[in-house]
Amino acid sequence: MTDSLHAAGGRYPADAPASEALFDRARAIVPGGVNSPVRAFRAVGGTPRFMVRGEGPWLFDADGRRYADLVCSWGPLIHGHAHPEVVAAVQQAAALGTSFGTPTPGEVELAAEIVGRTPVEQVRLVNSGTEATMSAIRLARGVTGRSKIVKFAGCYHGHADGLLAAAGSGVATFGLPDSPGVTKAAASETIVLPYNDVAAVEAVFAADGAEIAAVITEAAAGNMGVVAPRDGFNQALARITHAHGALLIVDEVMTGFRVAPGGWLGLDPADADLVTYGKVMGGGLPAAAFGGRAEVMAHLAPAGPVYQAGTLSGNPLACAAGLASLRLADAALYRRLDETAATIQGLVTDALSKAGVPHRVATAGNMFSFFFTDADVRDYDGARTQDVAAFKAFFHAMLAGGVYLPPSAYESWFVSAAIDDAALEQIAAALPAAAEEAAAA
Ligand SMILES: Cc1ncc(COP(=O)(O)O)c(C=O)c1O
Repeated sequence: MTDSLHAAGGRYPADAPASEALFDRARAIVPGGVNSPVRAFRAVGGTPRFMVRGEGPWLFDADGRRYADLVCSWGPLIHGHAHPEVVAAVQQAAALGTSFGTPTPGEVELAAEIVGRTPVEQVRLVNSGTEATMSAIRLARGVTGRSKIVKFAGCYHGHADGLLAAAGSGVATFGLPDSPGVTKAAASETIVLPYNDVAAVEAVFAADGAEIAAVITEAAAGNMGVVAPRDGFNQALARITHAHGALLIVDEVMTGFRVAPGGWLGLDPADADLVTYGKVMGGGLPAAAFGGRAEVMAHLAPAGPVYQAGTLSGNPLACAAGLASLRLADAALYRRLDETAATIQGLVTDALSKAGVPHRVATAGNMFSFFFTDADVRDYDGARTQDVAAFKAFFHAMLAGGVYLPPSAYESWFVSAAIDDAALEQIAAALPAAAEEAAAA
C-alpha cells in the first residue's frame, strides 16, 4: 500500500481503496479501527479520514483530498506539517542511530531548553503526557507520604487509572463517567471537584487536607472545549495546597510551549511544585516531561527512592524534533499564532452570527473552541449545555469544505504558524454553508 502511495506521488489512485476501505480493514484488526478513541469520529459520525501526508497548513487524505488543518495532531505542530528544519533534524538524528539506551547529548539539550523557558529547575523526559502526569502523581505521593489526589471535572490528564474520573473530551464523547477496568480502590483515591471553584477546593482541604498529596489541574483547561482558569484560580490552588502541605501539579501537556514560550505559567505565573509537558516539546514525535523544584525532583530514582523509568525515554529522534521545534518557537512565532487564532475566531464568529447560531468563543491564549450555547462556560457542566448536534452538522460541512476540525465538540482547536492566506481562504469559503447546517440542525 505504501509503495502504491509513493508511486501515486502521495495520492491514492482514484480506484484504489481509500479511507472507507482502510477503516473497514482497520476495524477487523484494531479495536474500533483506531489507536486512540477520539480519532474514530464516534462523536460526529461518519468515517474518519486516513491521512497520508501533511505539508505546512495542509493535510492530505488517502482519497487525495486536501484540508486546512485546525487540529495539528492535537496540538504539537505549532510550525505546521513537515517543517523543513524539524524534518532535517529528525533525518540527521536517525542517520546516527535511532536509540541507544544510554544518556545522549540531545536529552541534555532538550532538558536545558525546557528549564530555560519555564519555572521548573529539573526535568525528567518521558514518552507521553499520560506518563508525565502519572509519574508526577507518584512523585507527589512519594514526597508527601499521602495518597489522595484532587482533580477537576472536565480536565483530562491522560489515561492512567486514578486520573480517568470525569476526564473530559474522549471520555465525555463516549458518555462514560469512568472506564471499566479502573478499580474502585484507584478511583477512591481521586477527589473530583468542579473546575474554577475555589470554595470547593477550600472545603475539601478543610475536611480531608491531611490525606491529600496533590491537586492536579490543566494550566488552562482544553479537554472540555477550552475553559480558561478564572483570574487567580491557579494561584489560589497554590496557596491552598501549600497551606496544607500538599503539592500543586500544573498540567501543561496541551498549553506548554503552545500559548507562550514558557507555556501558560509564562503568561499567568503560579507557584507550581510540579509541571507536566508533552505535545509541542516533541515536535510531533513521542516526547513528554515532568519537572519541578530541584528539591522535589531529588526524590526521583536514581537520585531518590521514587521509581520511574523508560526504555525509550529521551529518544534521540524525539529530542531532535522537539529541540528543532522549540528553537523555532520565538516571540515572533507566538505573535503569529495569536494573530492567526484571532483571525479564525473572527471568521467563525461572523459566519455563525450571520446564520443566527447561538455560540460562545472560548479562548486560552491561541487555543480556542466554539461552544454552541447561549451560556457562559466556566466548567464542565457549562460545557455540557452546548448543542452537540449543531457542532456535528457544522463539523461535517467544514470537512466537506476542506477544513479539518477536531471531531468532537469537547476539544480545543489548534492553529499553526504555517496557516497562510490560501488556508484562511479555504476556511472562509467553507464557513457560510457550515454555519447554515449548524443553524438547521
Ligand atoms: C492536558 C493533558 N494532559 C495529558 C494528556 C495526555 O497526553 P498523551 O495523550 O500524550 O498521553 C493530554 C492529552 O491530550 C492532555 O491534553
